[in-house]
Amino acid sequence: MGVFEQFNAPSLLSHYGCRTFIETGTGIGLSLHYAATLPFGELHSCEIDLGLAQAAKSLFQDDPRIHIHTSNSEDMLRRSSGRLACSGGHGPLPNGPSS
Ligand SMILES: C[S@@+](CC[C@H](N)C(=O)[O-])C[C@H]1O[C@@H](n2cnc3c(N)ncnc32)[C@H](O)[C@@H]1O
Repeated sequence: MGVFEQFNAPSLLSHYGCRTFIETGTGIGLSLHYAATLPFGELHSCEIDLGLAQAAKSLFQDDPRIHIHTSNSEDMLRRSSGRLACSGGHGPLPNGPSS
C-alpha cells in the first residue's frame, strides 16, 4: 500500500521524538521500506500470512533495526502498549477492534 509515505513522518518523528515504528500488516513491505529510510531506532511489523512474513524477513534481513513478527496485529499491539502504532491497512480483526 505504501501510504505511510503520504504522512509527514520526518516532522512527526522530530516533534514527538518517536524512536520506534510499529506496523500491523507488513504485506510486501512498502511502508516498512519507506519507514526504514527514517531515523527510527527500532521498526516492528507483524504479518499474519506466513509466506509474506518469510519474504519480508528475507527482504529486510540486512537492517538490524527491523523486526518482522509472524503474528496477528492484536497480539503484537498487546505486547507494544505505550508505543505509537501504524496500521498497515488490513481490515477489522476477527475478534476485536478495527485496526
Ligand atoms: C494492505 S496490506 C499491507 C500493506 C503494507 N503495509 C505495505 O505498505 O506494503 C494488509 C496486510 O495485512 C495482513 N493482515 C490481515 N489481517 C491481519 C492481522 N489480523 N494481523 C496481521 N496482519 C494481517 C494481510 O495479510 C496483508 O498482507
